[in-house]
Amino acid sequence: MSKAVAVFDAYGTLFDIHAAIGRHRAEVGADADRVSELWRTKQLEYTWTATLAGHYADFWTLTERALAYALARYPSVEPGLAPILLEAYRNLDAFPDARAALSALKGRGVRSAILSNGTPAMLETAVGHAGLSADLDAILSVDAIRRYKPCPEVYALVAGHFRRTPAEVVFVSSNRWDVMGAATFGFRAVWVNRAGLPDEYPEAAPERVVADLHSLVEMFP
Ligand code: LAC
Repeated sequence: MSKAVAVFDAYGTLFDIHAAIGRHRAEVGADADRVSELWRTKQLEYTWTATLAGHYADFWTLTERALAYALARYPSVEPGLAPILLEAYRNLDAFPDARAALSALKGRGVRSAILSNGTPAMLETAVGHAGLSADLDAILSVDAIRRYKPCPEVYALVAGHFRRTPAEVVFVSSNRWDVMGAATFGFRAVWVNRAGLPDEYPEAAPERVVADLHSLVEMFP
């Protein structure tokens, strides 16, 4: 029998997107959490509007633009921090359960991959920094098709790479809108709801909701 395939979203699922600001919380000041939220919100908005409008700028460019916007909205934060925060974003921390879960899956013979909006360079750097390279079989980036999640062509990159039907792929994301895209494509979608957020997108429910990545491993006996 061919090996099972588990595919992971990167930002927010394996990597803690709030770790960049978190690492420089004291310098950023009292608005740190609000800046981090707005940075993420704008970063995602720019991906959706680009793909809907039919153009493309890579995820690093959009990440820079989103931070510039967030800093402009919070003038209390020293704008000279931008390069430092971007450098921290390049080397985000993985969630504590990411490495253990990926290595447990490998031990069970599961093939694992990342499917992310991130550029190949961003993903290589983050994966290397977090020490996840050895447990991943592939790093797939939307950059290959210049369209962002949740457009179906993005999820098709996985089916093409692993030569599996969507129903043979477990797709794991902490972003509920990404789970929606994956479930709509036909993947066995798993929502990692670390923060206990309310459910959304009732027409595209996940097969399973887990609180952390450890709980995933039991899906692959
Ligand atoms: C990604 C974004 C959605 O990694 O976080 O694709």
